[in-house]
Amino acid sequence: MSRSTVSILILLAAFGLSGCDADTQSGGLVGSTMQNIANEALLGAEITRVQCGSCHYLDKTVRKVGPSLQGVYGKAPRTRGIPVELWNETTLDAWIENPTGVYPETRMKIPGIKDAEKRAAIIEYLKQL
Ligand code: HEC
Repeated sequence: MSRSTVSILILLAAFGLSGCDADTQSGGLVGSTMQNIANEALLGAEITRVQCGSCHYLDKTVRKVGPSLQGVYGKAPRTRGIPVELWNETTLDAWIENPTGVYPETRMKIPGIKDAEKRAAIIEYLKQL
C-alpha cells in the first residue's frame, strides 16, 4: 500500500470517528454529509496526486522540483518572491489557476487548473496535508 493510500485511509477513519456520535443523534444526516466530505477528500487527493505530485511531495516534507505541499495551507510562502502573505483559499485558488499571473518569475510553469471545482477539491485536500 502506498503512503498516500495509507494517509487517505487515516483520513477516512478520522471522518468516520468524528461523524459517529452526531450521526446516531440525527438519523444519518450527518453521516451522509461526512460521506460526501470523505468522497470529496478522495477526489481532491487523486487530482492533487496527478496534477501536482510530479513536482511536489505530498507525503514527505522534503523538496522535489517544488517545495513539499505538506502544511502549506495557512502558512506564508516558503518560496521567496511570491507576493502572497498567506496560503488560504483565495490565494491558493489564484495560484493554482495561473501561477505566473500571481508571480511572473515563478519556476512553477504550469498552464494552471482552469476548472474551479478541481481547484476547490485540490485546496480542500491541501488543508488536510
Ligand atoms: C512542473 C512542476 C510543478 C507542478 C506540476 C506543480 N508545481 Fe507547484 N511549484 C513548483 C515549483 C518549482 C515551485 C517553487 C516556485 C518558485 O520557485 O518560483 C512551486 C511552488 C508551489 C507553491 C508555493 C509553495 C511555497 O510555500 O513556497 C504551491 C502552494 C504550489 N506550488 C502548489 C502546487 C499545486 C497545488 C500544484 C498542482 C495543481 C502544483 N503546485 C503543481 C513546481 C510545480
